[in-house]
Amino acid sequence: MDFVEIAARGGDRMYWWELELLDQLVRKYRPKSIVEIGAWDGCSTMTLGLAVKKIGGHVFSIDPTPSDILNNNIHELGLEDYITKLEQSSPWIDMDLIELPIDFLLIDGNHNTRWVLVDYHFFRKYVRKNGIIALHDCEFTSVKKAIDIILETDKNLVKEVAYSGPKGKRGLLAWQI
Ligand SMILES: C[S@@+](CC[C@H](N)C(=O)[O-])C[C@H]1O[C@@H](n2cnc3c(N)ncnc32)[C@H](O)[C@@H]1O
Repeated sequence: MDFVEIAARGGDRMYWWELELLDQLVRKYRPKSIVEIGAWDGCSTMTLGLAVKKIGGHVFSIDPTPSDILNNNIHELGLEDYITKLEQSSPWIDMDLIELPIDFLLIDGNHNTRWVLVDYHFFRKYVRKNGIIALHDCEFTSVKKAIDIILETDKNLVKEVAYSGPKGKRGLLAWQI
């Protein structure tokens, strides 16, 4: 299945080239434990799930809002064994349900600046050294503001390893920590 089709199945909330970049990151860093905050109908969830189905690993997908479309997508692509859905709200998540340390974290939940900061700081301590933290919608003003604050305070601790560019006003950014 190509990334255009995955994007369409998931309601086009991520661009196909961002999904391609996400897939490339997973293939490059081969994370065992992947956590995503914010699934909606599953553009990122399907992409991560399909990648780990091929190369190993597991996806822990956190989103408090149930989605039948997401459930159907996971079922139709045969991804049930590769994705654990956690219908809870970050950061009030039962960390015992997640395999630690986290190797790959995707932050794409509440895009309010403070919430992005809370997600980053809460989960960062569970991400292993040299692990990856990716942020989606990094071109949104509110997310951009959070990124600027993180870089001001944490700039010696994160190294940019991927950026999709501003094309289309969403954007995927990834750091190695
Ligand atoms: C931008 S969408 C995610 C898009 C998704 N990654 C995709 O590929 O289509 C944001 C999602 O974050 C979820 N969300 C909002 N606040 C959240 C929180 N505190 N914890 C987890 N998910 C949250 C919303 O329910 C919504 O489904």
